[in-house]
Amino acid sequence: MAALLEGKVAIVTGAGRGIGRAEALLLAKHGAKVVVNDLGAHFDGTGAPSATPAQEVVGEIKKMGGAAIANGESVSDFKGAKRIIECALDTFGKLNIVVNNAGILRDRMIFNMSEEDWDSVAAVHLKGSFNMSRHACEYWRDEHKKGNVLNGRIITTCSDAGLIGPVGQANYGSCKAALAMMAIAIDNEMAKYGVTANSIAPLARTRLTTDATPSSAWIFGREVKPGEFDVFGPENVAPLVAWLVSDDAKDVHGEVFRVGAGAVWLMKGWHSAAKIYKRAVWDPSELGEQVKAELAKGVTAKEDLREVMTSVMS
Ligand SMILES: NC(=O)c1ccc[n+]([C@@H]2O[C@H](COP(=O)([O-])OP(=O)(O)OC[C@H]3O[C@@H](n4cnc5c(N)ncnc54)[C@H](O)[C@@H]3O)[C@@H](O)[C@H]2O)c1
Repeated sequence: MAALLEGKVAIVTGAGRGIGRAEALLLAKHGAKVVVNDLGAHFDGTGAPSATPAQEVVGEIKKMGGAAIANGESVSDFKGAKRIIECALDTFGKLNIVVNNAGILRDRMIFNMSEEDWDSVAAVHLKGSFNMSRHACEYWRDEHKKGNVLNGRIITTCSDAGLIGPVGQANYGSCKAALAMMAIAIDNEMAKYGVTANSIAPLARTRLTTDATPSSAWIFGREVKPGEFDVFGPENVAPLVAWLVSDDAKDVHGEVFRVGAGAVWLMKGWHSAAKIYKRAVWDPSELGEQVKAELAKGVTAKEDLREVMTSVMS
């Protein structure tokens, strides 16, 4: 039986560490040739770039008999992102899969957040995913016009911070919410070219959930005993991505999933939950009474991330 991703060429951004590394390794294990992109900076995006993390992952892939190339461009640079796409085309002759995973954190309460905290997070997550997806989709559309259907696949990486609501992450959470919608929007636009897009909200122990956010140590910092299932190992995120980018997943698209710890949740976002209506201009107070009586009752309960996490911890 052919491997799930035999003959595919993939780019995984931010693949030098954490979740991206696990995704690159699994895609390669299932037959994909992989561009391992990573800038190699500190978790807040500062510090000198380093080629080492990406090169180490390429070494791991080659050791297991796979094909990979390291790339150190920043996804936040529009032209640099195009060079990442070209790296796949020049090295492996085509491109089928883009996993937008690169990310940084600059947590601050909104009243302390600097312009740079906002801009740098938006540049990597939001603009970076746009840059990569935009260049890839242009390529897939051009190829489709020539009769070359590549079954393009886009993954964006969102977060519970963008789906449920974070504290101290107005920058990150806003971008992550937008990344869920970016997948839905791209999926709508690119269906006629055979391209699908989905978004994942991962749960995994990485430097972003340990070093960058010590408040999550009670979840992600837990000791894993030898032989025990490593609940929050990043390798638990990768299988969903490997399947979503395969040809087998052509009918599962435009969706948002939470994934990790052995679980996959289908997430459903904005939809009409309740309605009041009057065929006339409302008086504000009368409207307020109706909002309290009809709209706010039972529909404003928030999902509690702490409950979600504890449900998969024991
Ligand atoms: N770990 C979690 O539980 C969790 C939860 C929700 C969302 N996420 C998202 O998952 C993704 C992966 O994060 P992680 O937890 O594995 O963290 P990580 O820090 O281990 O990995 C992120 C990688 O992205 C790279 N990177 C940063 N800026 C880049 C740029 N401009 N260009 C290219 N590469 C760049 C970093 O060098 C790093 O290797 C991120 O988008 C993050 O927001 C993670």
